[in-house]
Amino acid sequence: MRIREPRPDDVAPYAEAVRRSADHIGRWNPVEPDGLAELLDRQGPGLRTFLIEDVDTGGLVGKCNVANIVMGRFCNGALGYDSYLPYAGTGRMTEGMRLVVDRCFAPGERGGLGLHRLEINVQPDNARSVAMAERLGFRHEGFTPRMLFLSGAWRDHERYALTAEEWTPIDR
Ligand SMILES: CC(C)(COP(=O)(O)OP(=O)(O)OC[C@H]1O[C@@H](n2cnc3c(N)ncnc32)[C@H](O)[C@@H]1OP(=O)(O)O)[C@@H](O)C(=O)NCCC(=O)NCCS
Repeated sequence: MRIREPRPDDVAPYAEAVRRSADHIGRWNPVEPDGLAELLDRQGPGLRTFLIEDVDTGGLVGKCNVANIVMGRFCNGALGYDSYLPYAGTGRMTEGMRLVVDRCFAPGERGGLGLHRLEINVQPDNARSVAMAERLGFRHEGFTPRMLFLSGAWRDHERYALTAEEWTPIDR
């Protein structure tokens, strides 16, 4: 897998990937096939998006938003992600997410985001996302009732987090 920032020419393939994955994504996250253009506009110090690509086919495996980035004494970001068919469930998303986490913790001078702490907030019944957080080594920190507004209601979330001290940088 490789990760990269999205570009305007990703808008159409992104829309196709999200459309064909709507059932897979829709129980847990908003399904917004036409959302990449707005996401491109919103990229900045508080939000960075990475696309995960299969090196062999060039296909779009998934997307990860690093949102709510706060620097200063916090250096924290929240990961939100979706995987796309036909790659979902094949292990590729996990491999790509390891690259995203590595990029988040890498210092700015090595092209990283220089973050110290990452969080993943997941609805309690979202077993595939809980498994993803745990595969990446995130620790369960607690439970927050009514944390995020999704699918028309305020949803409870389990909070997972990881700090840079707990991450072994990927050797490249
Ligand atoms: C959560 C989500 C991103 C997880 O992505 P995914 O596609 O399941 O990720 P992966 O394919 O890397 O998951 C690994 C799974 O593939 C399996 N797998 C299959 N082939 C594999 C391989 N060659 N190597 C490693 N794992 C492999 C793993 O065993 C694991 O399956 P398991 O859960 O049965 O143990 C995805 O389910 C999703 O988009 N869900 C909807 C949106 C969502 O919930 N987002 C997160 C909100 S908090």
